[in-house]
Amino acid sequence: MEVIRVEGGHRLEGEVRVAGAKNSALKLMAATILAPGPNLLTNVPDISDVHIMGKVLKRLGARIEVQGKHELLIDTTDVDKWETPYELVVKMRASTAVMGPLITRFGRAIVAMPGGCQIGERKIDMHILGLEALGVKFDYDHGNIHATTPDGLTGTDVTLEFASVGATENLMMAAVCAKGTTTIDNAAREPEIVDLANMLNEMGAKVRGAGSPLIQIEGVEKLHPVEHTVVGDRIEAGSFIAMGGMTGDTIRVCGFKPRNLGLVIRKFQQIGLELKEDSDGVVVSRPGELHPVDIQTLPFPGFPTDMQPQVTAMLTLANGSSIVTENVFENRFVFCGEMLRMGADITIEGHHAIIHGVKGLSGAPVAAPDLRAGAALVMSGLVADGYTTVSNIHYIDRGYEDFVQKLTGLGAHVERLDLPEDDD
Ligand code: UD1
Repeated sequence: MEVIRVEGGHRLEGEVRVAGAKNSALKLMAATILAPGPNLLTNVPDISDVHIMGKVLKRLGARIEVQGKHELLIDTTDVDKWETPYELVVKMRASTAVMGPLITRFGRAIVAMPGGCQIGERKIDMHILGLEALGVKFDYDHGNIHATTPDGLTGTDVTLEFASVGATENLMMAAVCAKGTTTIDNAAREPEIVDLANMLNEMGAKVRGAGSPLIQIEGVEKLHPVEHTVVGDRIEAGSFIAMGGMTGDTIRVCGFKPRNLGLVIRKFQQIGLELKEDSDGVVVSRPGELHPVDIQTLPFPGFPTDMQPQVTAMLTLANGSSIVTENVFENRFVFCGEMLRMGADITIEGHHAIIHGVKGLSGAPVAAPDLRAGAALVMSGLVADGYTTVSNIHYIDRGYEDFVQKLTGLGAHVERLDLPEDDD
């Protein structure tokens, strides 16, 4: 069993460069299906979710060449299948991002129904409703969704009930070559949506308004392959800033656009962090104590659910009480049970966490219940007394490239260990 063991109490210093955004890279990879030919993606993070998306594309007939650690040449000339099987979708729900591109390219797609996952039920009803409005017919059998377009795809107006990231992306990719114009109202506004729209436009699409709640897509005949650089990972950046804030040390976090963190930066400042922004990152320091704040997660530009565990972890050491409200994923407080084992004082009431700051945390064996919670537990280990051993680290590998190496580079005492399994 692989674990990350952290020895608390060591100073952090220096600089850490974040990778390309996981949530962007996965969708950009899926989008290459839309443009038959060699597409080059740079600044692609070397993480296990990207490897899984590579497998999905290869299964569809794409050829992928890894050109250096962060460059993928994805040749989609010979993509000739439209089915994404259960064994890949079950490993990574974001595999469903190929649905929109496959429907555009082949007029059909078969995608295994994603089930729920650790952080919530995660339905895809909004993807389905939006695609139906564009002319897609759906049938379901044996756990698969069969999409067909008997009359082709026709642009229409879609209003999303919730600004879903995945639904906005699938709809954008299904609408790029539809007949006429599509509008998506209450669209998700995350920077990764803007990155996808930029790449689609470089491919020849006509997408306007990405980053606002109203996206307009004028259908074009066809798209052509491109070279595109993945936007820096704001959540990885936010995670490292939180680590500097938690330990109270001064570090520089770079490789991302600070404006993409928006409200997170303001909340960090209220918590007591000092952030000096430059064009490519921030220098973080903390002159005094951690202050309590109330936070609620919401779609961008609200506070991202993907930063909730890291900030909740920080607030366990604040000089007062905070309330964190999780509005996006219902199971995202599971890790708080692990934090209690480290001496935190957190009470969960429905989708609220009431956090009373404590004087210190105590190292303990804990299990990561999901990706961002895994980062939050390692981060708590940095300031805890003694050793913290975090298991289930395959979750961390899904979204943080070279996590242990980056932390070690900052001076943390962190190592990956392969512990023998307990045999009963
Ligand atoms: C993406 C991100 C994830 C992030 C989330 C919200 C990727 C690979 N993942 O996930 O890291 O936490 O955005 O910023 O990009 N919902 C429905 N029906 C739908 C679609 C969504 O009920 O058809 C619900 C979900 O269950 C969830 C909420 O809407 O409660 C938000 O989901 P969504 O924005 O779609 O997140 P993902 O695209 O799955």
